[in-house]
Amino acid sequence: MPDRFEPISAKCPHILHGGDYNPDQWPAEMVDEDLRLMELAHCNAMTIGIFAWARLEPEEGRYEFDWLDAVMDKLAAAGRYAVLATPTAAHPAWMSAAYPEVLRMGPDGRRRHGGRVNYCLTSPLYRTRCAEIARCLAERYGRHPALLVWHVHNEYGGACYCPLCREAFRSWLKEKYGSLDRLNHEWWTAFWSHTFTRWDQIDPPAPYGEGCVQGLTLDWNRFVTDQTIACYRNEADILRAASPGIPVTTNTYWLFVNFDGRRWAPHLDVAAWDNYPMYHDRDDDWRLAAGVSFNHDYYRALLGGRPFMMMESTPSSANWMPVMKLKRPGIHALASLQAVAHGSDTVQYFQWRASRGGAEKFHGAVVSHAAHEHTRVFREVAEIGSILERLDDVIGTTVRPEVAVVCDKEVEWAIAAAAGPRHEKRDYVPTCQSHYLPFWRRGISVDVVHMDVELGPYRLLVAPMLYLLRPGAAERIIRFVESGGTFVTTYWSGIVNENDLCFQGGFPGPLRGLLGIWSEELDVLHDGESNTVVPAGDAGHGLSGQYRAAVFCDLVHAGAARVLAAYGGGFYAGRPALTVNEAGRGRAYYIASRNEERFLEDFTAGLVSSLGLRPVVPGPLPEGVTAQVRSDGEREFVFLLNFKRDPASVHVGAGPLTDVLSGETVSGAVPLGGYGARILRREAARG
Ligand code: GLA
Ligand code: ZN
Repeated sequence: MPDRFEPISAKCPHILHGGDYNPDQWPAEMVDEDLRLMELAHCNAMTIGIFAWARLEPEEGRYEFDWLDAVMDKLAAAGRYAVLATPTAAHPAWMSAAYPEVLRMGPDGRRRHGGRVNYCLTSPLYRTRCAEIARCLAERYGRHPALLVWHVHNEYGGACYCPLCREAFRSWLKEKYGSLDRLNHEWWTAFWSHTFTRWDQIDPPAPYGEGCVQGLTLDWNRFVTDQTIACYRNEADILRAASPGIPVTTNTYWLFVNFDGRRWAPHLDVAAWDNYPMYHDRDDDWRLAAGVSFNHDYYRALLGGRPFMMMESTPSSANWMPVMKLKRPGIHALASLQAVAHGSDTVQYFQWRASRGGAEKFHGAVVSHAAHEHTRVFREVAEIGSILERLDDVIGTTVRPEVAVVCDKEVEWAIAAAAGPRHEKRDYVPTCQSHYLPFWRRGISVDVVHMDVELGPYRLLVAPMLYLLRPGAAERIIRFVESGGTFVTTYWSGIVNENDLCFQGGFPGPLRGLLGIWSEELDVLHDGESNTVVPAGDAGHGLSGQYRAAVFCDLVHAGAARVLAAYGGGFYAGRPALTVNEAGRGRAYYIASRNEERFLEDFTAGLVSSLGLRPVVPGPLPEGVTAQVRSDGEREFVFLLNFKRDPASVHVGAGPLTDVLSGETVSGAVPLGGYGARILRREAARG
């Protein structure tokens, strides 16, 4: 694995700063004023053309590129670059009128034009029109000096239920299962007489249709991912072929939304995501920040540590938020540097200039309706822009964490589809985040990964609620532990195979031997109910006092495993609540219940000290502060980020370290302003 990746594009080896820019909405002369403002805002890369299809192709087959030629040429002349989008996330009205099949059909059987992201995932006509516009753009701009990155579509999402998509789904199933007998077995359709005798009896899960066959739901989700990737590749392959060396990506959001990012990863040259946390100046906003970090760590880990693109964020507020709270002074720089700290080589916005009309005219923008640079938001954007210009050395650096937290989309889907055991409180992703949080608070770097990732580089693997296990996953985890790794999992793990069939012979299925336990029953508590977890006298592991357990209490038998804590109450008082099993050179922990936050804090602290996991700075870090690092193997860039209003101080060790922005040499306790961030450079630790 490289210590330092190449810049996203060798053409512009700087942190990319800019955002969605829609000259297609404005008179041509506006571009000169925009360029003047971009210079002032220190913006070097603008994302253009995203929703410009009707402007680019006002009638079928009649293209108008003059306006875009002018924008591209002017960007190049000004030494700026384009992240050039294909416009396929919103197609023109003429297309819907001429070819209704391009329109997405809802599960209710109705098609609509309007809004955006309203295309059919399968329509050959839509694919052809998309390929055609992509080809035109590729041929015209593939070698343009301003072209930096191809941005395919915009935020793919959702599904289509039209007859073409249903047929494609059935073909996908035929390919996967080969025969209906196999499919009926894997979906356990004998239950409630769901047995299928013809492929055309199979329809996607829908509110008015089937919702009780979990294998079907899982496969539909997989199909939608694959079909959407096919839409992406329909354009991406053309762009790649026409412009070798120009990276191709698409922007997504929040853990890849309804798609499995693992299946997308091989098709992305760089991962990209749109980041819109609702920072509201509340005491616990730092928890929100940890959730954002979790996402950043997911997108970085998705391509093996390769720096990613924060493709969108708002410079101030977002109009779709229930409360359009402004970012407080300082938060913009903090949130931007947070992205960089976790591996983003870009800070980009939606949007450059606020549109005069339309759906998002009240969304935050670098250039507001005041239409000049004398605004607080513009000044803050310009300020972070000038900071980013001084971070060239950070480009391409990454982090190689010792810890991975598993958050797997198929587990998320399967848990969401399950009937039981506590419908509103299954909370898979929040549970993964609660296991991530103690590392964030300690400034210990984490990769957020799916279960098939190469485990060799890690020392600790935390996989909460690993409900579904794909073939080979348990074997890989066993090998990881036997060769010295530490594995932590929880209640509701090892329950079903990849098609949602329960493992026979006792839970947690193929992980039973590794964990040295058998989970016989799972008790689920009502709101307000709780049990206690009582550490054994010699438990160690950082545990102290008793802990509150709620929602899930798994009733396990410890076979080979040692019991580190037991339930304090109820009919299962005394039964194991936390176990550890030695296997080969490693250990496997099982946390049987969903415990209060203090438990995970103490337990994680115990693991950190027993494994000697290295925090980025010696700490301890004050509440709301994290420390993250990027390195090229020689130099390390330490980012200190304070998500609280109040100033804080962080012990950074004997150093000395250099403050990258001020040049000052620092060591020991370093002050951090409220919502403050600092970037410190030091030699990489050896060995
Ligand atoms: C998304 C979209 C943008 C814009 C922003 C608003 O991320 O990609 O086009 O709608 O949301 O926050
Ligand atoms: Zn369709």
